[in-house]
This record gives sequence, structure tokens and C-alpha cells, in this order.
Amino acid sequence: MSDQSFDLVVIGAGPGGYVAAIRGAQEGLKVAIVEKDPTLGGTCLNWGCIPSKALLDSSELYHQALHKFDVHGISISKPKVNFKQMMARKSEVVSQTTKGIEYLMDKNKITVLKGLGSFESATTLTVSSGKKSETIQFKRAIIATGSDIAELPSVPFDHKTIIDSTDALSLTSIPKSLTVIGGGVIGVEMGSIYARLGSKVTIVEFFDRLIPTMDKQCGKALERSFKQLNIDCHFKTKVTGFKTTKSGVTLTAEKAGKEVSFTSEKCLVAIGRRPFTQNLGLDKIGLSLDDKGRIPVNAQFQTAIPSVYAIGDVIAGPMLAHKASEEGVAAVEYMCGKAAHYNPLTIPGVVYTWPEVASVGQTEEQLKEQKVAYKAGSFPFKASGRARASEETEGFIKVLSDSTTDEILGIHMVGPRAADMISEAVVAMEYRASAQDIGMMMHPHPTYSEAFKEAALGATGNRAIHI
Ligand code: FAD
Ligand code: NAI
Repeated sequence: MSDQSFDLVVIGAGPGGYVAAIRGAQEGLKVAIVEKDPTLGGTCLNWGCIPSKALLDSSELYHQALHKFDVHGISISKPKVNFKQMMARKSEVVSQTTKGIEYLMDKNKITVLKGLGSFESATTLTVSSGKKSETIQFKRAIIATGSDIAELPSVPFDHKTIIDSTDALSLTSIPKSLTVIGGGVIGVEMGSIYARLGSKVTIVEFFDRLIPTMDKQCGKALERSFKQLNIDCHFKTKVTGFKTTKSGVTLTAEKAGKEVSFTSEKCLVAIGRRPFTQNLGLDKIGLSLDDKGRIPVNAQFQTAIPSVYAIGDVIAGPMLAHKASEEGVAAVEYMCGKAAHYNPLTIPGVVYTWPEVASVGQTEEQLKEQKVAYKAGSFPFKASGRARASEETEGFIKVLSDSTTDEILGIHMVGPRAADMISEAVVAMEYRASAQDIGMMMHPHPTYSEAFKEAALGATGNRAIHI
């Protein structure tokens, strides 16, 4: 049993934890990072953001070759999917990315301890791996243990027919049909992948639209786009049970007071994620969880135990990689006595369907609920020259600004490269720009980003030029 001592120990090597560890090392702290899984990078790199985006890109390329090349005057013989190669590429991207984190730990002289971290006290942690166990001392700890997949009790995973997102990222063949329970972010991204590859996809969602936490208009636009992909969406539908069959599974559900059923080869359950604190020994340091299983923290990410901080999916807020990373940086800077910057009002949300969906700030529904007087300007991509040139005319950009001050309160986009364009919107909101500010700024022509300027001009009083 070794007895090492660190200024900072980070538990969990996801995008929250590894970024916090690097920021700590930059501040001159002696840092250790503890990870229970064989590879670094957490959910995001191993079975989240990175593998899903790899498959989204591959499947979109296939879809374009199949359906979009013709109109550009490119004739090819019917493309075929080599699913084994698609999955192998995805795994290679994951492997390169997780190895990159090992390199960064090494470069920043961060001690990597592989094993399960469990608190013994407010200054000691045991790290256990198999029969091996060591105890380390720390001045400060950051809990960055992330989240785990939520199970639907009436449709438990068997990981063959009833699968979770991790299974869906590692299938060995394309299912003929796939029912997705949950029309949230995972549901629409994984649904897109398999629909593009030829599965008959059905999405069953409890609420009245897709991606219900985002602006309503975004969910509605995505639904229209999904019709072209032949994805069936069933809203206000509650799954009540299931029966496995020879060729798959039949789900039973309630829709408008009637019983309905959905039969498919596989069923992906994507109804959310839960904070992960199992075997962390929180009881030993007297830390309790809130009613959703999250670790309560103050504005500096400090828990009720002054030496222990928490960040990322394990605390309140949207479960997003960039949010976890920014919290990691801020937590370290606060503990080092610095004036950190962290703004929960400007966390962007992106859905990597095609067209992409991206959003920052308040939705129209939230502003209505809060009775905030606002102006809205919207610009459709079908009026954009750049969008027409690339045959990407679906979607819009919407700017919401305060009726009195014109300050931008929310920006919502559905369209080509919205994932990248939302950063300009984040900058605008961080600097508390007015819609007029954006409307006055030159945007290069022809670009998709001109739609942002036009929508901003719309919000300043019907001043959009091209509509
Ligand atoms: P995690 O990444 O979950 O990392 C926590 C780490 O802690 C894990 O490695 C775990 O093994 C380790 N750990 C837990 N307990 C212990 C312990 N006691 N001892 C040692 N180690 C421990 N977000 C985006 O922003 N963009 C996306 O495109 C995106 N796509 C996603 C796609 C999918 C399919 C999924 C499932 C998620 C996606 N997310 C995406 C969400 C994103 O992955 C998470 O928000 C992010 O990983 C959270 O980071 P974290 O550091 O808080 O936790
Ligand atoms: P989610 O919370 O986004 O969506 C779950 C959906 O399931 C909700 O729309 C909910 O109404 C629905 N639902 C819940 N119970 C249901 C039931 N019994 N029947 C039918 N529908 C039901 O969660 P999801 O998609 O599992 O993703 C988990 C987390 O991972 C999210 O918080 C998300 O932020 C993150 N993620 C982020 C991505 C991104 O940033 N691009 C991509 C994928 C995941």
C-alpha cells in the first residue's frame, strides 16, 4: 500500500475531469487523476460524443452519395455500406482520441491512477483495481464521475434486442427496423444514423415533439426533416411494456387513451442519463445527494465538504461535455483563488442530425412563461444564396431579443453547420450584444452565417434584406 500525497486529486477522466486535471497542473499543483475504466476520456470519448459523431458523419456521407450526388450532376453506381469498416473507423477514431488524453496527462506530469476511487475521509481516497488497493492523501478533490444510462423499468435492457446507446454504437449489423424510445438528443442522433443506413426507424416520445427541451420550432423542423428520412415519430406516447418475438420485440404503448404497439428487430431505449456516484464513498465524508441523485455544489463548484468539489454530469445542469470542461476549469481556478469565468446562461446545445440543430439562451416558450416581452426575427435558409448553392435549404435561424433593450436573449438554429455557427451566437450573448449589434456587423458572402445577421435584422424591426 503506497501513501502518496497530492494537492489535487480528480476522480473520473471524462471531459470534466481530464480538463480540470490539466488546468490544475498549469497552476503548478501536484495532480492525480483516478479512472476506473481501462481508457481515459469518460463517456464522451469512449461511448458518447466521439463515436456517435464518427458514425453520424459516415452515415451522412453514405446518405449524400445515395440521395444527393445526382442533383449535383455526379453519377456513381449505387453505393454500398461496409458496416464493419464503418464501425472499425469509429473505433479507430475513439482509440486515437483516448490515447491523445494519455499523452496530455503525461505532458502535464499528471499521475494517472487506474482504479475505482472511493473516499475514506475528506483528505484520503482509496484507489482499488482488482485485488490491488492504495490510499492517497489530497488537499483538494474534484468529483467528476459523470453519469450512467437510465433504464426504463418496463423495458429493461438485455443488450441484444433491447439496447442502450453504448450497444447502438457497437452493433455488428444494421437492424432492418429499430424502435427508439425517447425523442431526445440520443434518440434523434442514433435514429438518424440507422435511418440513413437503411433501418426503418420509429421514434416513440412521451412529449409532444422531438428534442422537447429545445425551442419548439426546432423540434418541429427536425420532425419535418425526419419525414424525408422515412422516420416515423409518435408523440404523447407512453411505452407500457414489451414482448420479445422470434425476430425482435413488440412494444406496447398508450397513445391518446388507446393501446398501440410497435414491432421491430431492435429497440433502443434512450430516456436520459443519471448522475453516477456508485461506490464513491460519499457516506464516509457525509455528502448527501439531491432528489435527482446529483451532488449539490455552490457557485464555485464546492460541495458541503470544503476540500471536495464536483463538476460535470454528476451535478445539476445540462449533461454536456463542454459544460463539464468549463466547470472543471472554473473549479480549479476558484480553488486557486482566481476570479474564474463560468456563465450557465450561455451553454450552447447542439444536436448533430442533418440539418444540425443548435441553440443558446432562452427558448420562445421560456420567455413566454416568464412573461418577458421579446421580439423575434427569423431567416429561412431557403432564402440564402449559400444554402441554395449547396442544396442545403432546410431550416432557419431565429433571434430573440428583449423588446425594450434589444439585448439578445436566445438564438435557435436548424440548418447546415449550425453546430459551428452557434459559437458566434455564444460570443454575442457573452458580450450582451443587441440584435442591432449583430445586424450591423459585416458577415462574409456567401456564407450560412449571413442568416444570423438577417435574423438579427429581423428582430430589430423587420429590417432583414433578403426576405
Ligand atoms: P463522464 O464523461 O461520464 O466521465 C466520468 C468518468 O468517471 C468515467 O470515465 C467513469 O468511468 C469515471 N468514474 C466514475 N466513477 C468513478 C470512480 N469512483 N472512480 C474512478 N473513476 C470513476 N455531450 C456533448 O456535449 N456533445 C455531444 O455530442 C455528446 N454526445 C453524446 C452521445 C452519447 C451517445 C452520450 C451517451 C453522451 C453524449 N454527450 C455529449 C454527453 C457527454 O458525453 C457528457 O456530458 C460528458 O461526458 C460528461 O462529462 P463528465 O466528465 O462529467 O463525465
Ligand atoms: P434526453 O433527456 O435528451 O431525452 C430523453 C427523451 O426521452 C426525452 O425527450 C423524454 O421526454 C423521453 N422519455 C423519457 N421517458 C420516456 C418514456 N417512458 N417513453 C417515451 N419517451 C420518454 O436524454 P438522452 O437522449 O438519453 O441523452 C442523455 C444525455 O446525453 C442528454 O442529457 C444529452 O444532453 C446528452 N447527449 C448530448 C448530445 C449532444 O450534445 N449532441 C448527444 C447525445 C446525448
